[in-house]
Amino acid sequence: MRAEVVVIGGNGQLGSDIVLRFRREGVSLRSLTHEDLEVSNPESVASVIGELRPTLVVNTAAYHQVPACEASPDKAFAVNAVGPLYLAKAAQGLGAVLVQISTDYVFDGQKRTPYLEEDVPSPLNVYAASKLVGESFVRNYCERHFIVRTSGLYGHVPCRAKGMNFVTMMLRYATGKPEVRVVDDEVLTPSATVDIAHHLWRLVQTEEYGLYHLTNEGFCSWYEFAEVIFRELGLKTPLLRASVKDFPSPIRRPQYSVLENARLKALGLNQMPHWRDSLLRHLSQMNA
Ligand SMILES: NC(=O)c1ccc[n+]([C@@H]2O[C@H](COP(=O)([O-])OP(=O)(O)OC[C@H]3O[C@@H](n4cnc5c(N)ncnc54)[C@H](OP(=O)(O)O)[C@@H]3O)[C@@H](O)[C@H]2O)c1
Repeated sequence: MRAEVVVIGGNGQLGSDIVLRFRREGVSLRSLTHEDLEVSNPESVASVIGELRPTLVVNTAAYHQVPACEASPDKAFAVNAVGPLYLAKAAQGLGAVLVQISTDYVFDGQKRTPYLEEDVPSPLNVYAASKLVGESFVRNYCERHFIVRTSGLYGHVPCRAKGMNFVTMMLRYATGKPEVRVVDDEVLTPSATVDIAHHLWRLVQTEEYGLYHLTNEGFCSWYEFAEVIFRELGLKTPLLRASVKDFPSPIRRPQYSVLENARLKALGLNQMPHWRDSLLRHLSQMNA
């Protein structure tokens, strides 16, 4: 049966909020789970997308546990790069629009002012490199596309790949550990999936195709993110500042990955709340 909109990864952290937000608008929407479609399988993509004949495909699927990507680069590239290529070809064949969700990790974190869409990416790890290649396949194989980079997601449905998000991870650590140490020298913008979904809806109403940064406003360290969670959820376990040097890892990550929603602002479409306001709203809903 036909569906106007198809959301891939519709039961994921971001996908589930996109499904809710778009359905509120009354569009006919099919939410696809991993069981329904395998993005790295060309037959699966061609048959499922071919049958549904959507005018808009939103791809939230990713292989995005950073250490797992490092250990299995073939799989990372199959899901994060080649999958979007198959989707781009399928969307182009139907004359459909493709939304590809990407990441702040495409940057190396050397800047100390927010990254703009025109800044040159320089991925530090396999996950980031595979997502960047996915972006370029979408850009080059599907004319009508939106590539949307976001960062530090949390929502009411935890990230399926990780089984949690940073909020639920802090809750788990605070109840299971004598103290919690969080890095204070890695800076990002925590972003609420509900805000991303709302802005995606606004964006796809336009024909202003291309690359977008889409995060909440402002920025903080992971420690500052944790501080708000601990305070608002009344967690009494000691929360201590740490450095990335305290957790040695062979995997490199950007120490600064703040994105500026510059193109969205230029279009007058940016109504993203400050990260702290969105987080307070989210935590008060959790408390309720
Ligand atoms: N989480 C973050 O903080 C963050 C930050 C920046 C960017 N992003 C990007 O945002 C997007 C959404 O992240 P999220 O946190 O919502 O992830 P998530 O909760 O793990 O959801 C991903 C969804 O995609 C499905 N999926 C995974 N591999 C698939 C495949 N090969 N074929 C078809 N479906 C597949 C998953 O199903 P199963 O679970 O059943 O496999 C799940 O429904 C991703 O593209 C990610 O790269 C995330």
